[in-house]
Amino acid sequence: MLAWSGLSHRYKGGAEIAYADFALREGRHLLLRGSSGSGKSTLLALLAGLLRVQQGGLEVAGTSLAGLSPRALDAWRGATLGVVPQRLHLSEALTVAENLALPALAAGQGADPARAQALMAALDIGELAARRPHQLSVGQAQRVALARALMRQPRLLLADEPSASLDDEHTLHMLALLLDAAERERCTLVIASHDARVIEALTARDDFTEVVLRSRTSATGPASQLGALGGGTAPMTRMTDWTDGGRA
Ligand SMILES: Nc1ncnc2c1ncn2[C@@H]1O[C@H](COP(=O)(O)OP(=O)(O)OP(=O)(O)O)[C@@H](O)[C@H]1O
Ligand SMILES: [Mg+2]
Repeated sequence: MLAWSGLSHRYKGGAEIAYADFALREGRHLLLRGSSGSGKSTLLALLAGLLRVQQGGLEVAGTSLAGLSPRALDAWRGATLGVVPQRLHLSEALTVAENLALPALAAGQGADPARAQALMAALDIGELAARRPHQLSVGQAQRVALARALMRQPRLLLADEPSASLDDEHTLHMLALLLDAAERERCTLVIASHDARVIEALTARDDFTEVVLRSRTSATGPASQLGALGGGTAPMTRMTDWTDGGRA
């Protein structure tokens, strides 16, 4: 479902972020862990084709992303992925319902109000269709972003820090929504988080594999020292698979 090897990324003027080789079997979900700045959002952006692959190979849902043109990446992303970004990127100029229509319209397809209605009902935001994002609570806005990500029936759903600014109760609720959505829509989840509550909840499940990213660019701490000792690149990713160790 997901695989990368020799993968690394370097922002302009920044240090190299290297990822240890990894593959995720069909039918399993991925928890991406690591401290702030370790490269979780960067990896999600690579998986989503929002950042071009500079170095190494990356295969997502059967497609090798490295050689694709920006135009091909856009089409592939629209047909394959749903993304719930760290910053939600809901358009203030549009109502909730219009925000849900946006992915299809951006892809040059007709809106699907029936699907939007069904998703909003499933996520308990059916009453909010006519509101603008600033009229929503944080938890409601997150559910709108989730509904929008699910609009085009993605095979893969990427969620970046889905518990950001949520209290304990809403964090568990958000996770339940993601897990329900994945089951109902039959899609693979990739959840990036450094939230202990999320990590505890997901590592207790047997259908998640975790990848722990270690930053060598952080200013302090043993990870950066190890990275410095290693010289050059430091792909210090650890992987755990709770059931059978059977990574694809
Ligand atoms: N657009 C950018 N330009 C330059 N450097 C960047 C850019 N985005 C991220 N970085 C740097 O790349 C590294 C990885 O950032 P990334 O956002 O992937 O980390 P993260 O693990 O998602 O962190 P957090 O948990 O805080 O969200 C950091 O050192 C960050 O400062
Ligand atoms: Mg991040």
